[in-house]
Formats: sequence, C-alpha cells, structure tokens
Amino acid sequence: MKYNIAVIPGDGIGPEVIEQTMRVLEEIGRKYDHEFAFTKVLAGGCAIDATGECLPKETVDICRSSDAVLLGAVGGPKWDHMPGSERPEMALLGLRGQLGLFANLRPAMLFEELADACPLKPELVSGGLDIVVVRELTGGIYFGEKATVETPEGLEAYDVEKYSETEVRRIAKVAFDMAMKRGKKVTSVDKANVLESSRLWRRVVTEVAADYPEVELNHFYVDNAAMQLVRGPKQFDVIVTSNIFGDILSDEASQVTGSIGMLPSASLATGNFGMYEPVHGSAPDIAGKDIANPMATILSAAMMLRYTFGLMEEAEAIEGAVQKVLADGYRTADIAKEGEDIIGTQKCGDLIVQAIQG
Ligand code: IPM
Ligand code: MG
Repeated sequence: MKYNIAVIPGDGIGPEVIEQTMRVLEEIGRKYDHEFAFTKVLAGGCAIDATGECLPKETVDICRSSDAVLLGAVGGPKWDHMPGSERPEMALLGLRGQLGLFANLRPAMLFEELADACPLKPELVSGGLDIVVVRELTGGIYFGEKATVETPEGLEAYDVEKYSETEVRRIAKVAFDMAMKRGKKVTSVDKANVLESSRLWRRVVTEVAADYPEVELNHFYVDNAAMQLVRGPKQFDVIVTSNIFGDILSDEASQVTGSIGMLPSASLATGNFGMYEPVHGSAPDIAGKDIANPMATILSAAMMLRYTFGLMEEAEAIEGAVQKVLADGYRTADIAKEGEDIIGTQKCGDLIVQAIQG
C-alpha cells in the first residue's frame, strides 16, 4: 500500500532528525512491503527566509492532500525579533487550526533503560511511568479573540479563553477512548474554582464519562495537578485538559521522565489524519553538529503508523528497535551518563535501521 506523507523538516535540528526518521520509515517499507512517498514542504523560519511567510499556502495544501504530516521542529534565534504574529511558531498554530488537529496526544513514559535520568526519587517512579496528556489543540486562549487596545490607563491587551460544549465533548471522547485502551483512568484538569470556561469543561467531561462506566474519572485544579505530577506521578494514566494547561503540564510531565529528547507526539483531526512531531524544539545551539537525538521523531513516526495508518506491527517494530538500541547501551549526548560512549544522530539512525532489519 502507498502512503503519502508531507514532511516538514523545519529549522534547527529538525532536518537532521527528520532525515533519520525517513530512513527508518523506508526500512519499514522494505520489510513490510509498503511505499512511503515523502513530499518535503516549508514551514517555520526556513519558510520565512524562502517565501516571506512562516506557513505558505502551498504547504497547507500539500499537507491537506497527504495522508499524514511529519514535522521536525520550527523556530530559532534568527527570527526572534519578528512580531508575534509573524514568528515561525505561528506556522504550528496555523497548521493545527487549518488542518483541524484538535487532539494532541503527548505520552510521557519512563524508558526503563533511562530510569536514572528521571529527576524524581526512585520510589516515586518505581515500576515506571506511563502517562498520556490529551491536550485540546485548536481552541481556548490560543485561538480566542485577542487584541491590544488604547485605554486611558495606557495600552491594554487581552486573550479570551473560551470553550464550546462541542469542543470539550470531542476532546473528552478522545481521552476516554484512549483510557479504555490503557489504564482506564482519566484525570480532567481545569480551574473550575475560578474560571467559567472551566466550569463548563468540567460539566461536559462529567457527562461524557457516563458513556464510559469502566473508566474512573477524577477532576484536578491545574495548580494541584502541577503539584501532583511531581509528588505522585504514578497516579496518572490519561490527563485531559485545555490548550494552555496542556501546554504547561505536558512540558512538566515530559521533564519528569528525564528524557524529553525521547518523547513523541501526535496531533489528530477527526478521522485518521494527523501531524506527528517530537515534543522537543529546534535546539538551534546543537543544530548541524550530528549530535541531536532523533529518537523522539522516530517514535513520532511509530505513532503515525499506529494512529493514522493502523499499522500496529510496524509501529511496534520501530518502538522495539529503539528499545533495543537503548538496551544495547547506545546513548546520544542528551541521555548519556558520565563515562558512557556517545553516538551521533546519523549513527543512532543506522543502529535503529539495523535493529529493524533484525
Ligand atoms: C508546544 C509549543 C507551542 C505551543 C508553541 C511553540 C507555539 O510550546 O507545542 O507545546 O505553545 O503550543
Ligand atoms: Mg509547549
């Protein structure tokens, strides 16, 4: 079968980690007899340099007509002086909004081989961590009305946090469906003691829960959730929350695992379409040096195989290959301990490809 993938290498280490990921997908294609057809497109800082816009229309069109999108990372100091609405990061928001990618899945898991990297006391994480943050991605304060206006008190700026029942219901369903395939527990995070939008959020999530009697639901205020994530992270299975709270809590959850360079993500639309990217950013300080860890992007490709293409065995082959490379003791600089041998980006790709070949 042929799968069309729009590829956005982007900026910083993006192109390097994407190159290794495409090699891994090609190897999966050879082994399992699939054709992955890649179309590279521009977004982010490199698109600004080439076209004057961070998200050219052609990029959106090609993404739309593809089966899935694979993205490296966007942004860097070169474009930091640009006004907010023109920065490379706006390409991400544009892609999310225009492609309808409302559900962002951010797994935070502790790789057994990297347990030492976890900054928490071992007793807090013994037996491993396996949390997935389900973040609403096309609503809330990121997409609400915003403006800067003149007032007698000087300039005033605002960003509106707003959610409709429909938006809350569809993200809640994603979270409950996910929980059914995992630990059957959903924690909904809001600020219902203060925010009206959170009170609606809580009511709708509770309504959706009625259709999932097997799933245990609890509600946390966001401040408490932030605390519980470092105090007792094992209590979490699926966390469902708004765009802004999910932005914050997913960074916290990933740091708790100690290996942010390892974590993949998926942003899904209705149906099977999705955009897949590592949780880490463009890391401009290490770009072009063959030292970046490509595993998060490679694991994002595994999520693509699983969620968009339904290729479970192939997804597991990638995850197993990454696990094997770690178990064999290979480490990129970001996850190496004192005294461990360090491999580069390219070599890491080589080893994962070899592990897939078996
Ligand atoms: C993320 C990032 C983005 C966000 C930025 C770069 C716009 O922090 O994907 O978490 O806030 O959503
Ligand atoms: Mg973020």
